[in-house]
Amino acid sequence: MQYQSQLVAKPYFIAAIGLFIGQIIFGLIIGAQYVIGDFLFPEIPFNVARVVHTNLLVVWLLFGFMGAAYYLVPEESERELYSPKLAIITFWVFLVTGALTIVGYLAVPYATLAAMTGNDILPTMGREFLEQPLITKVGILLVVVSLLYNVTMTTLMGRKTSITIILLMGLWGLAFFWLFAFYNPVNLVLDKYYWWWVIHLWVEGVWELIMAALLAFVLIKVTGVDREVIDKWMYIIIALALVTGIIGTGHHYYWIGTPAYWQWWGSIFSALEPIPFFVMTLFAFSMVNRRRRDHPNKIATLWALGTAVTAFLGAGVWGFMHTLAPVNYFTHGSQITAAHGHLAFYGAYVMVVLAIISYAMPIMRGRVANSPQAQLWETWSFWLMTVSMVVITLLLTGAGVMQVWLQRISETPMSFMATQAELEIFYWLRLIGGGVFFIGLIVYVISFFIKGDITYLSDEKTIKKDAVQDAEEGKTTEEVAPSAAEVRVEEEAKPVVADEDARPDLSFVPTETSAEDKPTK
Ligand code: HEM
Ligand code: HEM
Ligand SMILES: [Fe+2]
Repeated sequence: MQYQSQLVAKPYFIAAIGLFIGQIIFGLIIGAQYVIGDFLFPEIPFNVARVVHTNLLVVWLLFGFMGAAYYLVPEESERELYSPKLAIITFWVFLVTGALTIVGYLAVPYATLAAMTGNDILPTMGREFLEQPLITKVGILLVVVSLLYNVTMTTLMGRKTSITIILLMGLWGLAFFWLFAFYNPVNLVLDKYYWWWVIHLWVEGVWELIMAALLAFVLIKVTGVDREVIDKWMYIIIALALVTGIIGTGHHYYWIGTPAYWQWWGSIFSALEPIPFFVMTLFAFSMVNRRRRDHPNKIATLWALGTAVTAFLGAGVWGFMHTLAPVNYFTHGSQITAAHGHLAFYGAYVMVVLAIISYAMPIMRGRVANSPQAQLWETWSFWLMTVSMVVITLLLTGAGVMQVWLQRISETPMSFMATQAELEIFYWLRLIGGGVFFIGLIVYVISFFIKGDITYLSDEKTIKKDAVQDAEEGKTTEEVAPSAAEVRVEEEAKPVVADEDARPDLSFVPTETSAEDKPTK
């Protein structure tokens, strides 16, 4: 770790993983309630557990983004965080607000919670994903503003890179669109219209910038590829994401009472939305193919590649599937939507947060990378979670196709509930898939406690005395000889021998250094 203040990211990541576990437990509860109607009733009704499942998802992803920002911004800006203390206070405010909100959902009826928390002053509750009481919404706003202040000041006072600029654009955008969570017009069309400014413009707009920045950061670290190369990709990706995603909001305006031209605008622009996701996939593979070092943190690289591929599948392919107005006419609000929602959220945002945690957490624990044994556990968790999420998606897609057929296309359409009864087998299998996902998550948590043969950063430093010297003089990447910088900043520099001919500028990695490298196996 280059700067001490990067450590503030650690509690954010730990909280993120803790809440992730909670999210999945509630996913399993609602998954079970789908097939055993009165499971846990009346203690935890479906509607309440569903709110907890989705709210925990969003909150832990926010914890992940914030941790990532606090970790990455100092390193990119080449200075300590503007105020580490503020970052820690913010953490506790966020954690307490979040925990009290979940307790509120579970402990009192929703209407009582609304009455208790001032919903009559400014009614904002009762909308999917925006169920939080007013005070929680204000709390989230304050937490995000505090983050913005801290990381923006850090960036302004330090080096500005494309990664920090794009990350900041994403975070400022996140805060801006959150303001629409406070706007709840009485007219139902306007309500829905602006609701999507939070939901859609988050996941298909500004969050994509955050995702691109995190992905680029992890890839730069594990591959050692030049920044200039990364920068070009980044600008292309964000331009494509914004151009398609902003007008693409129209794919939610087909049937809510907005003018009919949205069926054209929404269809055309949202049909292009897969492109930035596809470019991100090309970007990730191209970086890894051009890599100039074999970073010992293999699993972080796997998460980064996994993010790019699964996001393209979940958002790009499963999004495209139902985005054209004539298709959406039939699939709207069906299990097809749930299939897409799961794989897109998992592939893009869950995986990118796990990628940065996988890269940063070992370093914050004083290691070059986790031991090969711990990485093996994490690799298992990667495949268990990813494959079961793909299976869940396929099952929900199957359920969705049947649902649309039986309920909306067939000559003798069935009622909603009669249709659901026909789909029971899909929901049982989905529950089993959820169980496997949960096992994968437990394996993930266990991987943090597997010791194995760890290479500590301190071991590395005694080997590379020159690197330590440079560090003590406070020199940074650009100032010192690349060999030392490689070790100090990037933890490990081992040229990929096979690629040497194709990469002339590899010459900057002196062979003595490589020869001295402690084997990290
Ligand atoms: C990572 C990015 C994405 C995430 C996290 C995501 C997530 C979601 C979620 C959760 C919903 C359900 C919202 C609700 O409760 O009504 C949804 C709906 C939808 N998404 Fe995405 N999405 C992403 C990207 C995309 C893309 C790129 C497309 C198009 C190519 C797309 C097309 C749609 C459509 C058409 C709907 C409405 C479905 C309906 O009418 O029921 N999404 N998305
Ligand atoms: C990281 C993994 C997961 C993510 C990102 C995720 C995300 C989501 C999202 C975005 C929704 C709202 C979907 C919509 O309205 O279209 C949702 C609902 C739901 N999720 Fe998950 N989920 C995950 C894991 C699970 C697991 C393991 C299960 C359990 C089997 C599960 C079961 C459900 C159920 C039953 C619903 C409610 C669907 C409905 O209202 O009909 N989820 N989840
Ligand atoms: Fe959308």
